[in-house]
Amino acid sequence: MLDEQEKSMQADSPLLDRQTEFLLHWAMEAVPVPIMIVDATATFRCWNRACERMLGIGAEHVLRRSIEEREGFNVHALWLDYLRWVFYDDRKSIQAHFENAQPVKSVPGAWQATIQLPCGDDIRDVELYAAPIRNGSGEFLGVFQTIRDLRERKKLIDQLLHAQKMETLGTLVAGVAHEINNPVNLLLYNIPLFEKLWQDVLPVLAGRVLPGETHRYAGLPVAFLQENMPALLSDMKFAVERIARIVSGLKSYSRFGDPSEKKPFSLNEAVENALRLAQTTIRGRRIVSRVELADDLPPLVGSLHSIEQVVLNLIVNAVQAIDHSQGRIDIRTDVRSDGYMVLTVADNGKGIDPSIAPRIFDPFVTDKQDKGGTGLGLSVSYNIVRAHGGTVRFRSQPSAGTMFQVLFPVGERKPIRRILVVDDDPLIRDLLSDVLISNRSCTVEEAASGIEACIRLGAFHPDLLVIDLFMPEMNGLEVCRIIRNDPEFRELRILVITGHSSHASLDEIRRMQRTDVLFKPFDIQEFLKKVDKILSE
Ligand SMILES: Nc1ncnc2c1ncn2[C@@H]1O[C@H](COP(=O)(O)OP(=O)(O)OP(=O)(O)O)[C@@H](O)[C@H]1O
Ligand SMILES: [Mg+2]
Repeated sequence: MLDEQEKSMQADSPLLDRQTEFLLHWAMEAVPVPIMIVDATATFRCWNRACERMLGIGAEHVLRRSIEEREGFNVHALWLDYLRWVFYDDRKSIQAHFENAQPVKSVPGAWQATIQLPCGDDIRDVELYAAPIRNGSGEFLGVFQTIRDLRERKKLIDQLLHAQKMETLGTLVAGVAHEINNPVNLLLYNIPLFEKLWQDVLPVLAGRVLPGETHRYAGLPVAFLQENMPALLSDMKFAVERIARIVSGLKSYSRFGDPSEKKPFSLNEAVENALRLAQTTIRGRRIVSRVELADDLPPLVGSLHSIEQVVLNLIVNAVQAIDHSQGRIDIRTDVRSDGYMVLTVADNGKGIDPSIAPRIFDPFVTDKQDKGGTGLGLSVSYNIVRAHGGTVRFRSQPSAGTMFQVLFPVGERKPIRRILVVDDDPLIRDLLSDVLISNRSCTVEEAASGIEACIRLGAFHPDLLVIDLFMPEMNGLEVCRIIRNDPEFRELRILVITGHSSHASLDEIRRMQRTDVLFKPFDIQEFLKKVDKILSE
């Protein structure tokens, strides 16, 4: 049975009007899912931008070509076979050729299969879905097809497994740490006793050895013991202290959900205490530290001692990351207008190794094995901060430095804003994103072109679009026109950035609603002020 909407569409207008056609075309281009449509004459009629990106084949190589063509057709043959069989509803062939092909019960004639498909330079596991398109009278109009990259699903499953593993590890670690603690303490107390005892016993042992005699204790000559025993004992002490450090880290790791104290304290006090402990190390490495503590911080509730440990971990990591003689560490606290109290620890060290960056909050992830690092510092810190209702984030650039921020919500919390930054120049894009992330509570995504911006808009739904005016392919003005003509993005605010103060397209932009312009060069405070003003309107 035809639904009402379909009936009225057929009765009113057999052909789409230009505006509907434009909207459909735009939707196809903007949707981040590959979509292709083959009409009843077996000719490709739609090959959207997501298809181009995923398969690395431009629409110009496919549109108006037939799925029957084999020679010189730039589309993978296996996939074309699949499409051909769905097209002719050739059930046996589909199932014989694509082992895991399954009819989709809810849609008559639709098929789903998982295959390996070349995507650009890659071969990926993808899920193909194809369904016949029929009009109200059941007449066959063509085939609709979409492809899903299974890597995303695999990534989510991996993340879930990882989270479960971490939870199990936490429980295991708590048990092991508890068991090891007592024997380690025993060694820790007794080894210094043996060191003292050795100093008292040595002269007695030496006195019992007559001149010219080589008396041995435990098979070792007294002279050897005299020379090496202090070093042996001190090595033992060093090793036990290291075990104790690891056990203490493990205990903190497993205790993260339950900060033992719940007293009000000042974040500044935690920073000052941690700094006192770290001062000797900072000075010893000739690092310049700059500390700016806001004097209007509201109190935090929890454990002062735990937050001190967080600050100390961040400072020690910063010191250890500085591998040159011009070291600088900036430590700052402030309360932001968006309802967060923030501690920032920034260094100009070597930056976080990109190969471990996604895992640095996991336990035992370290690049300092040979220097005694346990890889527990950040994971303990993260869990402490989470237990205080806060969060930790970082931004790092190889060879330039790293900035860690710890955020605690205070008072009325404003919503986290979503901002899409679009510029074809990666330096400007990164700079603006950095500035926004470090100074405002917002999630930032980046796009390198107008087309990418259009594609991201649908999935990211930003509150603000910051866009460069002049970019190749689709410029800022074209993107603004599309947005302002689309009811879905009526509320989206736009900040256009340009270095040309008198270009013709600016008049059109100025006439648009919820759209502002900022001229380059601008300073960062000016940019932030503009962003605040736009977002508060
Ligand atoms: N400021 C920083 N600059 C560069 N890399 C960093 C920085 N902070 C952390 N890292 C990286 O993250 C890893 C994990 O840090 P974490 O504090 O958890 O462990 P660790 O410092 O290696 O060992 P531990 O803290 O137990 O002594 C570090 O080994 C280092 O590679
Ligand atoms: Mg550390």
